[in-house]
Amino acid sequence: MKRLSRCRSTASLRPLSTGGESGLKDVTSSEASVEAAKPLPEPAAPDMPLLRIESVAKSFGNFRAVDQLSLDIRAGEFFALLGPSGCGKTTLLRMLAGFETPDEGRILLGGKDIAPVLPHERPVNMMFQNYALFPHLSVRDNIAFGLKRAGMARADIAARVAEMVALVKLEGMEKRKPDQLSGGQRQRVALARSLARRPQVLLLDEPLAALDKKLRESTQGELMELQRRLGTTFIIVTHDQEEAMTMADRIGVMDAGRLAQVATPRNLYEAPASRWIAEFVGDINLFNGQVMSRDHSRLTVSTSEAGSLTVSELWPPVTKDVVCVAIRPEKVKLSRRAPASDEGGSHGINRLEGVVADVNYLGGVTTYKVRLESGAMVRSSMANTARLDVDAYLAGQRVVAWFTADDCMVLEQ
Ligand SMILES: Nc1ncnc2c1ncn2[C@@H]1O[C@H](COP(=O)(O)OP(=O)(O)O)[C@@H](O)[C@H]1O
Ligand SMILES: [Mg+2]
Repeated sequence: MKRLSRCRSTASLRPLSTGGESGLKDVTSSEASVEAAKPLPEPAAPDMPLLRIESVAKSFGNFRAVDQLSLDIRAGEFFALLGPSGCGKTTLLRMLAGFETPDEGRILLGGKDIAPVLPHERPVNMMFQNYALFPHLSVRDNIAFGLKRAGMARADIAARVAEMVALVKLEGMEKRKPDQLSGGQRQRVALARSLARRPQVLLLDEPLAALDKKLRESTQGELMELQRRLGTTFIIVTHDQEEAMTMADRIGVMDAGRLAQVATPRNLYEAPASRWIAEFVGDINLFNGQVMSRDHSRLTVSTSEAGSLTVSELWPPVTKDVVCVAIRPEKVKLSRRAPASDEGGSHGINRLEGVVADVNYLGGVTTYKVRLESGAMVRSSMANTARLDVDAYLAGQRVVAWFTADDCMVLEQ
């Protein structure tokens, strides 16, 4: 359950106040201070990664699908490649599996260049987006296919297939053909087939995209459980950021054939490397501005939309004057009156006055849009921690949207 609990901590576990000053005290005393502005730790780089992708490039005609991409992946890691459609995710996986040859660069597995190794001889297997099951073969024969081709003895094949069928919980369905299975069951057959030869690395290309939402969520949990049990390195491709954050130890965000950032889910969300990533992963408020002054790690940024903002700077320091201040909606609290002063401004609380323009009740949270005097909108998302929420805000109500300096990110690009 390590990953599940880690992942939950990236969500807004902090009880958000729905008004008044009491919530302010809780948050500022425990979390907001100048000293807290340290970079979020990333796990140490592995000495010897299982998989090393070195400046790999692949073009189709004049089009560069993968562009000088380098990445290390640890043994036993659950790694997610996240990016918009067409950014080169499948092409990268196909090069790892051996179905495409890189134009440039090298791919090392356990320190050895795998360029000369044929796809079916690599300890790498790929589960395709459309599952690519053989329609005329039974579940059993689909799973056994690669084992037969590898020349495994009959008795060993039978034992391995039984093991795989049990692993993906398809007992009793061994004789069925793919068209006699549900979408979720077909996905399991494809998974069993790709794991049958016990690969060191399993590549999964959008493995859950064909499943409906509920099934996708339960299958995410099962895949994580399976990966933990087997200890196999999983590289999963997805365009769904929640899926990547739920499942992966680390996420590589791809954009136009390049890796824009590689980070833990938490760092990707709380410390995105660019404005593009901040907007791609989750919801965010962005204010363009100019750095006016600097006091230790506190910056004062003048913005036309939200006035002067106090923000904490992470390491490395900002080098440009023109920046973008970014705040996640769940960090923006609303209250009816301005929160009381924060002990000489030591917590760097930013207060923006405005009028509630839009309220969306979503069950677990309510999202608000607050129109500032400049006309700009600030989005706030507050957890509905009480069933009868007498404190909810109404459209047209005057409110103060506030957040601490530590809750702001400063983005240079
Ligand atoms: N065999 C191919 N021939 C020509 N273009 C291709 C081929 N495979 C992929 N592409 C192009 O390369 C780009 C990246 O594709 P792909 O790796 O499938 O992206 P993703 O999986 O991220 O959606 C796309 O623009 C796609 O059209
Ligand atoms: Mg793809």
